[in-house]
Amino acid sequence: MADRFAIILAAGKGTRMKSPRPKVLHEIGGRSMLAWSVALAKDLGCKRSVVVVGPDMPVLSEAAAKLVGAENVVIQHDQLGTANAVDAARDALKNAEGHAIVLYADTPLIPKEAGERAFAEIETGASVCVLGFRAKLPNRYGRLVTTTDGSLEAIVEANDATEAQLQIALANSGVMSAPVRLMFDLLREVKNDNAKGEYYLTDLVGLARARNLRAAAAQCEERDVQGVNSQAELAAVERVFQDGMRDQFMVAGVTIPAPETVFFSHDTKIAPGVTIEPNVVFATKVSVETGAVIRAFSHLEGAKVGPGALVGPYARLRPGAVIGKDAHIGNFVEVKNVTIGEGAKANHLSYLGDGEVGAGANIGAGTIFCNYDGFFKYRTVIGEGAFIGSNSSLVAPVSIGAGGYVGSGSVVVEDVPADALTIARGRQSNKDGWAKTFRAEKSAAKKAGQKPDGAV
Ligand code: UD1
Ligand code: CA
Repeated sequence: MADRFAIILAAGKGTRMKSPRPKVLHEIGGRSMLAWSVALAKDLGCKRSVVVVGPDMPVLSEAAAKLVGAENVVIQHDQLGTANAVDAARDALKNAEGHAIVLYADTPLIPKEAGERAFAEIETGASVCVLGFRAKLPNRYGRLVTTTDGSLEAIVEANDATEAQLQIALANSGVMSAPVRLMFDLLREVKNDNAKGEYYLTDLVGLARARNLRAAAAQCEERDVQGVNSQAELAAVERVFQDGMRDQFMVAGVTIPAPETVFFSHDTKIAPGVTIEPNVVFATKVSVETGAVIRAFSHLEGAKVGPGALVGPYARLRPGAVIGKDAHIGNFVEVKNVTIGEGAKANHLSYLGDGEVGAGANIGAGTIFCNYDGFFKYRTVIGEGAFIGSNSSLVAPVSIGAGGYVGSGSVVVEDVPADALTIARGRQSNKDGWAKTFRAEKSAAKKAGQKPDGAV
């Protein structure tokens, strides 16, 4: 099979986003739109992806360089149209032999199968292929003019179309594939004598036909090629993405009673047999194993939840939280960079940061791992079966041995041996009758109009 290449257009200013951030760095499912396009190109097996950016877009150029390498980021100096944008990749691809696909970085949800169809047409002899879709409201899209045998004759932009052509419902998604050398060859012939005075990539179809080459249209769904030009469209595409994830997980056997309130990232992994209660957010890099229950109003990021574990309601799992089999992380418990052993429990109101909790340990309400001294962070290690009394502060670095017992309200600054009891708080002393005497004296003084020194 011929090598594959991708040319990703990202030079648009994105003015309508009204955002200081470059448009294509806005995220869908926790991943930038640009990264979605790069990921698609990788999934399609592209050997290289060249990203076309505008001038004076340092933030975007840097982000693109991280994704594809600086040598694959090229600048389109003037925004003279989509053909001119692709042409900006000419030098970068001067030695490329094979087939290329053009993607718009503001169109993030193109499925791999759609890209495969575009390449397949070229691999079976078409010279240009565009991905078309049946548009509900085709108004501003380019229209695909097809012949009776279904092959593609031309693309006309809405501004240049006749009344009859505007009736065509088959619209251009913008995705185009062609042999690399032919694409750059045809690009030399593109002119800008059209309504917008731009160099249209879509002209490649007519130019190929003029050489008696075959052009093809592959089809996809409208929702797969929804582009983003405004914040509202960004949210609309996010909805498409979220609905897709929800459906996919439910089909795979995940129980989600209120799916419209649960939010996933592009890389969320949930096993069949997991239950996700309402209002749960999965930020990036989360996996949940079978039988686990994520209860309402929990937020998870960079966390692994083991089989049968119970998380929430109102739990926060941060990067590096690894929750063992059948462990419980309850309400208002925050876990960061801590491994929680099998069957261990932290059910209420705790901060567990940097450390490990052994199997079967019990962390009482209000326990805090004091992990930070303002400069460095330290680990707290709790052995198997240990019991941490409520409202204890464990000042790291510190360890509690297996089976150790920490009295409630302790501030633990030294290691606790296995199976020992530690009590690290002021000793209680009861003074019989003290309160009664105190009240009698004070009320007498008040009645006599006396005020102790310092009273206001
Ligand atoms: C383009 C297609 C149209 C298709 C539509 C789908 C052309 C001439 N028309 O129209 O047939 O239905 O997309 O959305 O190709 N860009 C650059 N540099 C430029 C111009 C554009 O990088 O000089 C980038 C834009 O940032 C954008 C993409 O190319 O991501 C499409 O450009 P845009 O001007 O929005 O094309 P449309 O007029 O929407
Ligand atoms: Ca557009």
